[in-house]
Amino acid sequence: MNTHRHQFPALTNKAYFNYGGQGPMPQAALAAIVAAYEQIQTMGPFGLKTSALVTHESNLTRQAIATELGVTARSIALTENVTAGCNIALWGLNWQPGDRLLLSDCEHPGVIASINEICRRFGVIVDLFPLQATLNTGDPVAIIATHLQPRTRLVVLSHVLWNTGQVLPLAEIAAAIHQYPAAQPIRILVDAAQSVGLLPLNLAELGIDFYAFTGHKWWCGPEGVGGLYIHPDALASLDPTFIGWRSLDYSQPDLPLVDDARRYEVATSAYPLYAGLRAAIATHQAWGNAIDRAAKIVELATYLWEQLQQVSGLKCLNNSAPRSGLVSFQIEAGDRAKLVQSLESQHFYLRTIVDPECIRACTHYFTTTTEIDELVQCLGKMIN
Ligand SMILES: Cc1ncc(COP(=O)(O)O)c(C=O)c1O
Repeated sequence: MNTHRHQFPALTNKAYFNYGGQGPMPQAALAAIVAAYEQIQTMGPFGLKTSALVTHESNLTRQAIATELGVTARSIALTENVTAGCNIALWGLNWQPGDRLLLSDCEHPGVIASINEICRRFGVIVDLFPLQATLNTGDPVAIIATHLQPRTRLVVLSHVLWNTGQVLPLAEIAAAIHQYPAAQPIRILVDAAQSVGLLPLNLAELGIDFYAFTGHKWWCGPEGVGGLYIHPDALASLDPTFIGWRSLDYSQPDLPLVDDARRYEVATSAYPLYAGLRAAIATHQAWGNAIDRAAKIVELATYLWEQLQQVSGLKCLNNSAPRSGLVSFQIEAGDRAKLVQSLESQHFYLRTIVDPECIRACTHYFTTTTEIDELVQCLGKMIN
């Protein structure tokens, strides 16, 4: 494991627990980005050969992502980040006044802000369902089913909740939504910020329409490359909001939109970053497959959760062992922002969450038990 960890320069001088915020890039990703920039500059940044290279790089990247997610490359649009992908799905539906959007109470502020603007512009009504309270008791599938309404057109929820680390049973949720007799098909948009690179995925089996993710969190790729999966059956219902030369099919004289997910890509991007993301994914694959990586992440999160139970004055949100790599806890007294600040000055990287008020620590498959022991020891001293 140590040799593997040494590939991540950021891990040499700190105990890093912020993978849900941003993953540290492996050396191979940094090198691939530099090499790609150098190649493009050497060839000439604009030219026939470079243009062919960029197309090839984009195809390779969509394919690498699609393989990890268990879908076809044609269903993947390259974006910049999670929020961009969510916005493509949110703004692309043909909203009518009185349409309803069912939203979980655990979504990210950026996504909520976009939904609020859609409501304001189109007269859409948001129904909020209480997901946070189901962390330890309750059934998210039943709660979602009871909140559906005849005019519900879209359900928005995360696969792994960024605040509590809860993993949602997406296939069961999708089945319950599809059974509901709505006026029009109800589409499902999943915020996959905390699931891609963490969970083993086979999106084709989940029955969801849109899955928005990024490469810079659990995949440890460069910031600036993410993607959106669009189920082939949902393509026709989703108009592209931003359109550019990358959205077009140049094999047809009238340049129609491409008939796959590339229609949601717009124009010039930082293409060398694509090579960085592929190199990051390859680094993980060299350690083990997605199932083994997820098992290790959960094993280490469970170890952290168990150790935290021993610290008095601190309470984990989860009453049972975690099923993801996110472990959130509350402190009985004191200022959690100050605690996180003080931890960082001692080289332990964690973050605060506002709702519910807590501190979040993430484990990756290459987190060490020594890092966890040292963090728990430090927390024990600082809290008591
Ligand atoms: C659940 C969730 N959604 C969205 C985001 C925003 O991600 P991005 O900056 O890639 O859009 C985050 C980032 O922390 C997140 O945790």
